Amino acid sequence: MSTFLGQQRPLVIAHRGASSLAPEMTMAAYLKARQDLADGYECDVQLTKDLQPVCFHDTNLNRTSNGFGRLGAKTLAELKKLDYGTWFGEPPTEFTIEQWCSMLTLSELLEFVAAQSTAPIMLIETKHISANGIKLEAASIAAIKKFGLDNHDSTKPRAALMSFSIPALRRARSIDPDLYTVFLLAKKLPALDKLSNFVGSNAWGLGVHLLQTNPELVEQARSNGIQVFVWTVNTPEQIELCLKYKVDVIITDNPAATNQTIARLAAS
Ligand code: G3P
Ligand code: CA
Repeated sequence: MSTFLGQQRPLVIAHRGASSLAPEMTMAAYLKARQDLADGYECDVQLTKDLQPVCFHDTNLNRTSNGFGRLGAKTLAELKKLDYGTWFGEPPTEFTIEQWCSMLTLSELLEFVAAQSTAPIMLIETKHISANGIKLEAASIAAIKKFGLDNHDSTKPRAALMSFSIPALRRARSIDPDLYTVFLLAKKLPALDKLSNFVGSNAWGLGVHLLQTNPELVEQARSNGIQVFVWTVNTPEQIELCLKYKVDVIITDNPAATNQTIARLAAS
């Protein structure tokens, strides 16, 4: 077990925060994940028009804000004026409107992570859907370093970079050869061992559908010295499958329910 993960049981990571309980990638979603004892958090990053890394999943603003059009066509100041929470519902009293409705920059999220005493892991997925994407890894790694999250010490808050994009992972490796990186896979790619060696990542991030159809990938990863992350794991059956194959990291929209299911299965 690498010192980066540092534990024998699968770690439970909150996907876009506790995104089944609060609007994705808002401070409310990450506060809820911390309260629900997630071992860490996941976010997606993209660059604004003025090249600021912000936490956001889609290409367009339509689904999760009261704005519209492409995120990459707007400046940070323009994006900060929008509401990213009301689409999900009204905030419960435990959260402020700001925590429920505001977009987070990557720096704002990493500041929250770096201040924690529980040594969370921050998984940052660089999304390659904008013209400025070539600058995204450098901007993300600069933010990771600014908050001292570029370490492999399981007693400290730390960050990893993830992507489906091979050029993105290669860029990250060339900027910081020691950064922990995760090669995301939505399907079984040909010549995967060779490709993985070329990418140089520490872990494979398998879609749970891929674990269901191709569980031999876990052994294949292990034989290459690669750790196994699985996303997005939300049902008891999917959690049980992850435990059966002893994966290293479970990425879920609901860390509290996932922790409960793991405890129940361990006791049975
Ligand atoms: O953790 C990886 C997973 O988040 C990839 O899919 O679409 O949720 O970003 P997506
Ligand atoms: Ca993601």
